[in-house]
Amino acid sequence: MTGPPILAGAQSSRVEAAAPPSLANASTTSRVLERYLNIADLRHASRKRLPRGVFEFFDRGSEDELSLAGNREAFARIKLRNKVLVDVSQRTTAASLFGKPLSMPLAIAPTGVAGVCWHEGEMELARAAAIAGIPFTLATPSVTSIEKIAAVEGVRKWFQLYMWRDRELSYKLVQRAADAGFEALILTVDTPVPPIREYNRRNAFSVPYVPSLRSLFDMSLHPRWLAGVILPYLLAGGMPKLAHYPPGAHSRMAAPAGRQNAVPNLRGDDLTWDDVKRLRDVWKGPLLIKGVHLPEDAARAVVEGLDGIVISNHGGRNLDSAVAPIQVLPEIAAEVAGKTKIILDSGIRRGGDIVKALALGADLVLSGRPALYGLSLAGQAGALHALSLLRKEMETTMGFTGCASVADIGPRAVWLG
Ligand SMILES: Cc1cc2nc3c(=O)[nH]c(=O)nc-3n(C[C@H](O)[C@H](O)[C@H](O)COP(=O)(O)O)c2cc1C
Repeated sequence: MTGPPILAGAQSSRVEAAAPPSLANASTTSRVLERYLNIADLRHASRKRLPRGVFEFFDRGSEDELSLAGNREAFARIKLRNKVLVDVSQRTTAASLFGKPLSMPLAIAPTGVAGVCWHEGEMELARAAAIAGIPFTLATPSVTSIEKIAAVEGVRKWFQLYMWRDRELSYKLVQRAADAGFEALILTVDTPVPPIREYNRRNAFSVPYVPSLRSLFDMSLHPRWLAGVILPYLLAGGMPKLAHYPPGAHSRMAAPAGRQNAVPNLRGDDLTWDDVKRLRDVWKGPLLIKGVHLPEDAARAVVEGLDGIVISNHGGRNLDSAVAPIQVLPEIAAEVAGKTKIILDSGIRRGGDIVKALALGADLVLSGRPALYGLSLAGQAGALHALSLLRKEMETTMGFTGCASVADIGPRAVWLG
């Protein structure tokens, strides 16, 4: 059994066409990537490829990283059951959401500043998503603009919004996303205050980047990254900017030394359901909120007419000791399943994790770091490799659990102890 055509045979020629210039040719790219047998392999290689400050910025969590670890532990505690003597020879990971098909029930999560991982990283992620047949979510703090992403052919484009204190600025951004044909809007509601991530201070890494001896030394140890990611930006006119931030307000990825406090934090800690209501009036397409943990908040999302909720702890990057989303999924599904779409992220590293999430009531998952690990190694081809690994593992788990289709994945596939 193979995956849906878009991720199987049809994909390889397009992957090759997109081989990064740093690799001799397309087949070399594929051969190199085939060495990475799972997401953990990609992570390991990514750690070597990137400066420590950049890698830890992507990879780590907040405070004591209890949520980061807890996400994986929670998936590990959920067991799967064989379902025997079922014909799974025609199994497929194909799914649909908001009336449109997907090659698998997964979308690329918004991850600001992917453009530091790979030159024009968001474009590469969007192209990988197009080939993989899944949606790509552009984050508010990205270096690639809404309009540039709109030019990527054939991708389902979603936009993630951090609502700013100045609401009118945010509504202008939302209007740009609508004008550019973005399909869905995800309002992130789990970041009322900046999280505490101590390693960024230890590594002297921040956004905007403020030059320091420590970080410059770190970068000098990674000449391939400097030449492949940063140099092209410099040759094209300077360090990348956060594409959606107004001039002078957090828009540069690099700030003059000693001026890091000169940049105001635009995000508001005064967001309420009134903002959600207003957004519902403004945005006509699917509207979701991201960062829900409580059944009562999920129920309120239904009342407000939202098309979906994302159960997320931001990949363990925000509130430390936050519950793992997979732990609260069953009670939230009991409250709102069938009334709004249930999306889950945080900690998915194997295709089997996707099956676990679907079995417990999710309609779709988001994935953040896995594609970033691949991206940092080989751009679009690397991100696509990460997605293909997850899809292949999902299909394997479906085979063992007797699920020929995504619709077959239900509670009987899991054992909670
Ligand atoms: C480097 C990085 C940047 C992120 N930036 C954003 C962001 O701008 N907006 C947002 O809503 N979530 C952001 N997230 C959270 C992701 O959307 C997602 O919730 C998380 O990565 C899921 O966990 P996973 O990485 O284990 O898949 C970011 C995550 C990472 C790793």
